[in-house]
Amino acid sequence: MGYHQAGFDVLGVDKERQPRYPFTFVQADALEFVARNGGCFDAIHASPPCQRYSDAQRLAKRVHPALVADTRVALRRTHLPYVIENVDGSPLRNPITLCGSQFGLGVYRHRLFETSFGATAPFWSCQHVAPIAKMGRPVRDHEFMHVVGNFSDVQRARGAMEIPWMTRDELREAIPPAFTEYLGQQLIAALEIAA
Ligand SMILES: C[S@@+](CC[C@H](N)C(=O)[O-])C[C@H]1O[C@@H](n2cnc3c(N)ncnc32)[C@H](O)[C@@H]1O
Ligand SMILES: [Zn+2]
Repeated sequence: MGYHQAGFDVLGVDKERQPRYPFTFVQADALEFVARNGGCFDAIHASPPCQRYSDAQRLAKRVHPALVADTRVALRRTHLPYVIENVDGSPLRNPITLCGSQFGLGVYRHRLFETSFGATAPFWSCQHVAPIAKMGRPVRDHEFMHVVGNFSDVQRARGAMEIPWMTRDELREAIPPAFTEYLGQQLIAALEIAA
């Protein structure tokens, strides 16, 4: 949605069905899709599964395939500008961090972004003024919320992330469109310079 807001025509790929996805959707393996069809696009954004890198999953000793390195190889082969998004602790190269507080959202939700075009973070740094609601109890008006695990108040999370169409399962995997709109604007500038 953020790339659409920045001005792109968007096509999404996921190996699972995404019936609420608001743009053209293809159910496929993302890396195979990029290898076959990458040339049809101006740029590619990838959000490979992040569970392997998060503390909670490390503690649970769950093993997930490390898709970041494979994703980078697949994207570089296309020679297109790209963005790879992931969580703190993931092996991204020279990433910038974006925070919901930099965009007036009701979540902090730090996410890392590696870009091939040297995107820069906002010059206004993140500020964690509002307290975060404790998991499992209703979120109070002045609080920010953690959209993770079995969080409560889906409606509040939709507002806080500015993603009104998603379910609980989708929201906890998602990044706010404000993040990708911000990156999309820099991506357009990079494409215009290259043209
Ligand atoms: C972190 S979520 C992406 C969320 C998305 N960026 C958003 O903001 O809504 C990761 C997604 O990768 C998908 N996935 C995992 N392996 C995949 C693969 N090999 N090909 C395509 N999709 C894959 C999962 O089904 C999951 O929906
Ligand atoms: Zn922050």
